[in-house]
Amino acid sequence: MSPFAGRRIVLAVSGGIAAYKAVEICRRLVDAGAHVTPVLTHAAQRFVGEVTFSALASERARVSLFDDEDPIPHVTLGRQADLILVCPATARVIGSYAAGLSDDLLGATLIATRAPVVVCPAMHTEMWEHPATQDNLRLLSERGVTVVEPEEGRLAGGDEGAGRLAAPESILTAAAEALAAGARASTRDMVGLRVLVTAGGTREPIDPVRFVGNRSSGKQGYAVAVEAAARGAKVTLVATVQRQVPESVELVLVETAEEMRTAVLDRLPAEVVVMAAAVADYRPVAPADEKIKKSGEDRTITLEPTPDILAELGRSGAAGTLVGFAAETSDVLANAEAKLHAKGADIIVVNDVSAPKVGFDHDTNEVTLLDAAGDRTAVPLTSKRDVAQAILDRAVTLRNLR
Ligand code: CTP
Repeated sequence: MSPFAGRRIVLAVSGGIAAYKAVEICRRLVDAGAHVTPVLTHAAQRFVGEVTFSALASERARVSLFDDEDPIPHVTLGRQADLILVCPATARVIGSYAAGLSDDLLGATLIATRAPVVVCPAMHTEMWEHPATQDNLRLLSERGVTVVEPEEGRLAGGDEGAGRLAAPESILTAAAEALAAGARASTRDMVGLRVLVTAGGTREPIDPVRFVGNRSSGKQGYAVAVEAAARGAKVTLVATVQRQVPESVELVLVETAEEMRTAVLDRLPAEVVVMAAAVADYRPVAPADEKIKKSGEDRTITLEPTPDILAELGRSGAAGTLVGFAAETSDVLANAEAKLHAKGADIIVVNDVSAPKVGFDHDTNEVTLLDAAGDRTAVPLTSKRDVAQAILDRAVTLRNLR
């Protein structure tokens, strides 16, 4: 079934030359079964007439905060919407939205909604690259707005450069993902559960300035924490890297495997523990107190094993449902299966880190979930947030089976 079937979408069109491309987006959304309400700014109507959108959309285009039969059109539209798609988004609309201004119907609807919002900027290169535009977009992304980056190409007036509205396929894909994320956010199936997540690669000191580390970005662990919080869990995140998290998430920053172990054990019990961190397996036996000077000779650093936190949790049983990760480059499933049993985990999330766009530092991941009951679930290449959803779905199902 189409991800748009039966969904209410406000198509917010602002005044740029790319407004004519929003007509095609409108038609495709309606064809895919969405209920589309166009909202046009005054400037948008200088580029494409209201009648064009009214004829193609599911209801007439709306253009005014005051001259509307509904006395509060922005509130009605904002509340009913499953998604607001701002396409194209001019520098002015992006700026007003970032500043929280509600000086026309489009601006007011954006402030009056709790639905996911996707913004598709389109403007001349100078405007796109202006620090004000970039700062405003960064702020909007931090607030959870999806930004569909423009492409390089021909612009109005025959110029070439970055700022051309993204292709319809990219816009529709982002809209579908935002709708799915919005639907998930209303799933509150983890209320009352304590979830402990680890994220990032540990750093094992060699001396005060050097360490043994790995390529982990922490993005997958953060995605699990954000997803669990959205589903109502009480989340503690023990991480080696700092990123944006919702206010409700308790963030504990650590550096080494030993510090991570202490932080995790201190915060038990928890109903679900997800060990997404890439914990170093070895650390230098005797880190130097002072910076090691170069001597021109070979140097040997002796390493010793770190405590295996996942295995310790597996033995102790203090983690209700225990999820571990495995990053493999060969014999992927067999190695993961062995890890599942050796460490006493309930679920192992395995990825083949030799595949493109998978694992370390990417925004996407492709994994297989193996569980102690012998079930295997393949999650094809998708966002780390979607992978987080699949992991928590499985953890909740296993808990409910107990
Ligand atoms: N882990 C841990 N403590 C360690 C090492 C790993 O808790 N000292 C956890 C990780 O958080 C992850 C899982 O164990 O959930 C990964 O297991 P590991 O055996 O370290 O996997 P690899 O690093 O892939 O191991 P190997 O090099 O043996 O394949």
